[in-house]
Amino acid sequence: MITREALRQRPRRLRRTEAIRRMVSETGLSRDKFILPIFVADNVEEPEPVSSMPGHFHWPPEQVAQEAEAAASLGIPAVLIFGMPGAKDDVGSEAYNPTGVVQRAVEAIKRSVPDLLVITDVCLCQYTSHGHCGIVGEQGEVLNDATLELLSRTALSHAQAGADIVAPSDMMDGRVGAIRRALDEAGFEHTPIMAYSAKYASAFYGPFREAAGSAPKFGDRRGYQLDPANRRAALREVGLDIAEGADIVMVKPALAYLDVICEVRRATNLPVAAYNVSGEYLMVKAAAEKGLLDERLAVMEILTAIRRAGADIIITYHAKDAARWLSE
Ligand code: PBG
Repeated sequence: MITREALRQRPRRLRRTEAIRRMVSETGLSRDKFILPIFVADNVEEPEPVSSMPGHFHWPPEQVAQEAEAAASLGIPAVLIFGMPGAKDDVGSEAYNPTGVVQRAVEAIKRSVPDLLVITDVCLCQYTSHGHCGIVGEQGEVLNDATLELLSRTALSHAQAGADIVAPSDMMDGRVGAIRRALDEAGFEHTPIMAYSAKYASAFYGPFREAAGSAPKFGDRRGYQLDPANRRAALREVGLDIAEGADIVMVKPALAYLDVICEVRRATNLPVAAYNVSGEYLMVKAAAEKGLLDERLAVMEILTAIRRAGADIIITYHAKDAARWLSE
């Protein structure tokens, strides 16, 4: 028999009312910490629903400011722009075209919502005919050093279009340093780099690749993205990106990598971002559509868990819904 005496500690005392639960809550969730990803496409006249990402659209650059305004009016401080070009080639020329789809979208958003932070994804995979994140050599290998020049040109063209932050997601070695140099030389020494530092070769990017038409035509990305089995490798990547000048480091995906977020948080005092990716979004959406999961509760729990693990910033396709729920 447990005696009253033995139960001197009763943790449930602090869980009995909403007020006391609020008071002892360890992790806050705020829309200030959300980044909303937005897809812009060259070949659409009207916003077209993305079939693999319910609630998301392919926006023509001329109309994307609408979506940016919607995010801003919900109190979301930043958007992350992904581009779908009208044409692809071996070297991803549209990625660094000064009048490319992302560059035009950035200009349009900055013109209509100047205070909203516009972050651009810097990568070649949506722009290359083969779908890899860099230039491909004769043996089918992704060439690291030759790719750096193109990534730097891409990042610089985004900054010139008005991007507030650039976010390289390609996982080539040395790209943060190369981009930092290119930005500095052109007078963009105040433009921060949010590096996709610990980006894993993940099945959870599936719906995004469907949406962005960026699946590799041959092979996979395991030659440059991290092995899901590795945690120390993530810390090495984070260390290198910081040494090369990263201002914010990112872990991606988020849910299956909460331990990595936690370790990265311990390893640096820089802001840590986590990317709650397309597959993580779709799992919740698909289950909720079948009536098998309470979407709102599930999303809030997931976002809280990502913050609890140590992320300061969360990139999430749920950003608009979550911001709405938080303001209710
Ligand atoms: C481009 C890129 C990808 C994502 C963000 N940037 C896809 C990939 O690496 O294949 C994934 C985003 C998501 O799944 O939500 N390199």
